[in-house]
Amino acid sequence: MRNAMRFLFPAFTLCFLSLATSSQLALPRNTPNPNGITLPIFNDFAHQHYLINISVGTPPSLYSVLLDTGSTDFWLPAWNSSGCTPDPCKPGTFNPADSSSAVDIHVPFNVSYGLTPGSGMLGEYYNENISVGNAVIKNQTFAIANVPAPITPSTFWGILGLGSRYSTSSFTSPWSPVFHQLNATYTPLWESLFETGLVPRHLFSIYLNRQSADVGTITFGAIEGPESGKYEGELETVPVLLSGPLFTGWAVNLTSVTRTTTHCANSSSGAEPKTEPLTPDNFTIQVVLDTGAPNMYLPTPLYAQIAAPLTPTYHKNPEGNPTPYVRCALRNVSQPYLSFSFGGGGATHAPTIRVPYDELIYPFGLPANLGEVRGEDGAELCYFGVVETPGPVFLLGATFLRSVYAVFGGEAGEWRVGMAQARYGGGWDADERL
Ligand SMILES: *[C@@H]1O[C@H](CO)[C@@H](O)[C@H](O)[C@H]1NC(C)=O
Ligand SMILES: *[C@@H]1O[C@H](CO)[C@@H](O)[C@H](O)[C@H]1NC(C)=O
Ligand SMILES: *[C@@H]1O[C@H](CO)[C@@H](O)[C@H](O)[C@H]1NC(C)=O
Ligand SMILES: *[C@@H]1O[C@H](CO)[C@@H](O)[C@H](O)[C@H]1NC(C)=O
Ligand SMILES: *[C@@H]1O[C@H](CO)[C@@H](O)[C@H](O)[C@H]1NC(C)=O
Ligand SMILES: *[C@@H]1O[C@H](CO)[C@@H](O)[C@H](O)[C@H]1NC(C)=O
Ligand SMILES: *[C@@H]1O[C@H](CO)[C@@H](O)[C@H](O)[C@H]1NC(C)=O
Ligand SMILES: *[C@@H]1O[C@H](CO)[C@@H](O)[C@H](O)[C@H]1NC(C)=O
Ligand SMILES: *[C@@H]1O[C@H](CO)[C@@H](O)[C@H](O)[C@H]1NC(C)=O
Ligand SMILES: *[C@@H]1O[C@H](CO)[C@@H](O)[C@H](O)[C@H]1NC(C)=O
Repeated sequence: MRNAMRFLFPAFTLCFLSLATSSQLALPRNTPNPNGITLPIFNDFAHQHYLINISVGTPPSLYSVLLDTGSTDFWLPAWNSSGCTPDPCKPGTFNPADSSSAVDIHVPFNVSYGLTPGSGMLGEYYNENISVGNAVIKNQTFAIANVPAPITPSTFWGILGLGSRYSTSSFTSPWSPVFHQLNATYTPLWESLFETGLVPRHLFSIYLNRQSADVGTITFGAIEGPESGKYEGELETVPVLLSGPLFTGWAVNLTSVTRTTTHCANSSSGAEPKTEPLTPDNFTIQVVLDTGAPNMYLPTPLYAQIAAPLTPTYHKNPEGNPTPYVRCALRNVSQPYLSFSFGGGGATHAPTIRVPYDELIYPFGLPANLGEVRGEDGAELCYFGVVETPGPVFLLGATFLRSVYAVFGGEAGEWRVGMAQARYGGGWDADERL
């Protein structure tokens, strides 16, 4: 916490002062709640989604959308999506004709999502009144997209992206009239909350809570204190990696992974913890902290080191790809844990986050689309939430982020991610519901 204040508070102060001047001219003025805006995040674990409720339009309608730090656009499915059966499909889709405040800004929307092939979507940007909790942002840009795949209860109905404005379709698509125009890209929703004075700080904090928890939290515009019960120890920060001069997403350097075994195979040596490195001395890879990704997606040598003691077996998923499973009994025994360290470059307070193995192993029968898998001996096998990938993009998704209280934010040239070890049980139920 102390370190976070040191790193993040000065940047905030400067930005707030400069913005205060311009906001008197252009932006609607609000009085920010010093605690920011805290909303529940719903854990749809069976379908590997974290969802947030956002209300859109006049009169407002509530939408439950995927919370995604790995992208930036906020979009809802169009009422006449080709995936709608029957057509129109409601609720959960958006029809601008039903909202008196929807304004078509005639900018095409064209996205596809990284690791999901065939996930491309086309649509159009609109400006709208969008509510986050009780805070209303007027004239916020978002998109309405045609969803081509069949829309079912297990697919998500839109995405709230929480990334960089230089990763929106409006900025990156050659079909956009403001393609690569730095000064014309729209302000993403999480930044609008700060720029319109609805929240005091240019950041947001995420607490997913444990695998089995129904609810975690997101706080827009503030960092909760340790008294929230959501983390322990110091909140340490690392710089976000830039793409050339531009902030394009929440990528950081992962500099080491170790495994600590508390109960050794050699029982005569007792429960003396033993820590072994799983990465070489000079290891560094770029990883994106991505709440929209259910698993970790890591280079093969690191995956192999992490998985080795569990002796996974591989079973084909519906797409025909071999997917690692481990014996479910491994969820119950006292497990070793991994420690992920970030930063490098001589950082003295780089975050180190412990991830217990039982948080990497899904319960039997989940995720729902894969169903129950058994070994040849009939033993229950459980899905393993670490995936090997050739890169170049590596992700730390929910199987990592559940172990963290993470703060994302900063200013131009000062983008940072803060991380502290999550404490479980500090949820929406515990202290937020008033
Ligand atoms: C969230 O939104 C969904 C879909 O509109 C709705 O069914 C659910 O009741 C909402 N939950 C809360 C807590 O508002
Ligand atoms: C939905 O309706 C809009 C406006 O009428 C139209 O431009 C769009 O092509 C339609 N989408 C589909 C998938 O039919
Ligand atoms: C959308 O973008 C893809 C590339 O990402 C491109 O192949 C496609 O032609 C684009 N479609 C439209 C209608 O702009
Ligand atoms: C929606 O936007 C319109 C036009 O900007 C505004 O007059 C209206 O009060 C807004 N509605 C809400 C609920 O904020
Ligand atoms: C809404 O935003 C657009 C830019 O996207 C701007 O041109 C327009 O003036 C804004 N309207 C209001 C009422 O602020
Ligand atoms: C944005 O920048 C471009 C050059 O990069 C310039 O031509 C254009 O006039 C600028 N637009 C505004 C609104 O400042
Ligand atoms: C990330 O790691 C690379 C390779 O070691 C290094 O060159 C770069 O300075 C690091 N960046 C940050 C922001 O730590
Ligand atoms: C078990 O631990 C003891 C004491 O540390 C050591 O002497 C012995 O060689 C170990 N056995 C194995 C199989 O590692
Ligand atoms: C990392 O260290 C190994 C030996 O410890 C060396 O072979 C390798 O070249 C080093 N890699 C880099 C990028 O420095
Ligand atoms: C693991 O623990 C659960 C309850 O926590 C129990 O239902 C299950 O039978 C146990 N499985 C094994 C293999 O011990």
